[in-house]
Amino acid sequence: MRDGFSLRVPAWSIWALPAWQALPTQKTCNSYNIPVIVTSTNLVFGLPHFQTDFDVADFVDTITSRNVTTASSVIAPGVQVKSTVLIATHGLGFEKTYWDPQLNKTMYSFTDWAIGQGYSIFSYDRLGVGASSRVSGYVAQLSNQVAILAELTKLVKAGQFVGGTGKPPAVVLLGHSFGSIISITALANDLSIADGIVLTGALQLEQYVFERAGIRRGGAIRIASIQSPAKWRQLDTGYLTNADVLTNVATFFKAPDYDPAVAQFAENTKTPLTVTELLAASGITDPPAAFTGPTIIMSGQFDFIFCMSDCDDLLENPGEGVFSHAKSFKAVSFPGAGHGLSLHLNAAESFKNTTDFLASNGF
Ligand SMILES: *[C@@H]1O[C@H](CO)[C@@H](O)[C@H](O)[C@H]1NC(C)=O
Ligand SMILES: *[C@@H]1O[C@H](CO)[C@@H](O)[C@H](O)[C@H]1NC(C)=O
Ligand SMILES: *[C@@H]1O[C@H](CO)[C@@H](O)[C@H](O)[C@H]1NC(C)=O
Repeated sequence: MRDGFSLRVPAWSIWALPAWQALPTQKTCNSYNIPVIVTSTNLVFGLPHFQTDFDVADFVDTITSRNVTTASSVIAPGVQVKSTVLIATHGLGFEKTYWDPQLNKTMYSFTDWAIGQGYSIFSYDRLGVGASSRVSGYVAQLSNQVAILAELTKLVKAGQFVGGTGKPPAVVLLGHSFGSIISITALANDLSIADGIVLTGALQLEQYVFERAGIRRGGAIRIASIQSPAKWRQLDTGYLTNADVLTNVATFFKAPDYDPAVAQFAENTKTPLTVTELLAASGITDPPAAFTGPTIIMSGQFDFIFCMSDCDDLLENPGEGVFSHAKSFKAVSFPGAGHGLSLHLNAAESFKNTTDFLASNGF
C-alpha cells in the first residue's frame, strides 16, 4: 500500500445475499450465500421450479411453441440482479461498525438493509482505527486516507476481496462525515474510480462546516490515552477523543430522535480521531464538478458539525451547482437527525432513501 501502511480488511467486510432475493415473488429459487453477487447480466428463470417430469414436459412444449410471446415469458428478461458494491468509509469517532453496529439491526444496520436490497457492501477500518494499522496520531490524515481508499477501490473494481466472483459491474462510494470527505476527494482525484457516490453527514458549503471547530468545542476533545489508559495506552498524544457521553451527544445526536442507550453505546464503543485528521477535515473544498454519476448528499436536519444544526436549504442549491453534471442529484436534509444520522430512531428510513435513490439510477 502506498506510504507503506498496511490496512487489514477482514474477509467479513464483504457480505451478500442470494441473488434471487431481488425477485421476492420467486419462491422456487435456491438460496445461497456468496461473498459478492456479480450476476448483473443473468437472466432470471421466471417460472416455479419443476416438481415432476410432467412439469418438464410442459416446459419443453411451451418453449418450442410457435407462439413466441408466450414462450418468451418463461424468462424474465432484463431483470437485473443488483450486484453493485458499496465501498463504505466511516467518519471520525467510529470504526467500520458504524455501518453495522451491535444494536437492533433492523433499526440501525445500514449493512443489513443494503444486503436485503441485494447490494454488497465493502467496509473497512480507516488508518489508525480498529483492526487497521496504528500510525502516529500526527500522521493519519486526509491525504493518506484518500490514497488508501483509492487503492482499496481499485482492488474491489478489479475483482479482489469480492470472494473470487470477479469484477463487480458497479462500484459506489459511500461515506459518513470525514469518510464522505475522503470519498469525494478520492473521486475528485480520479473521476473513473466509482460509478456513483453517497455522501452522508456532509455539506459542500465551507462557511458552515464545523467539523474542526464543532468537534473541538462540541466534543471537548481530550487526549485519548489519558482519558482511558486501559483502552488507549498505546496511542500517542495525537489521538484525541470527546470528553464524555454528553459531548458525544452534542456532536452526533439530536433529541428527541435518539435513544440515550444508543448514545451511551456510541460513547462506549467510540474510537479516537487524530489531530492531523482534525486539521485536514473541512468541507468539500475541491468537488468533482465534472462527475457524471448519480450523486446523493444526505445529512441530518440538525447536523451541528456541518450545518450548524440546520441543514434545511443548505444541501440542495450549492449541491446542484457543485454536481451540475451528475446524471441525477439528490439532496436530503434528513428529518430529526443529528450528525450521526444512522444512530437515530428513524435511521432505517434514511437507509431506504439511499437505496431507493441508487435503485432509481439502475444500481
Ligand atoms: C399466444 O400468445 C398470446 C399472447 O401472449 C396469448 O394471448 C395466446 O393465448 C397464446 N396462444 C396460445 C395458443 O398459446
Ligand atoms: C428491533 O426493531 C424493530 C423495529 O423497530 C422491532 O420490530 C424489533 O422488535 C426490534 N428487535 C428487538 C430484538 O428489539
Ligand atoms: C424517504 O423515504 C420515505 C419512505 O420510506 C419517504 O416517505 C420520504 O419522503 C423520503 N424522504 C426523502 C427526503 O427522500
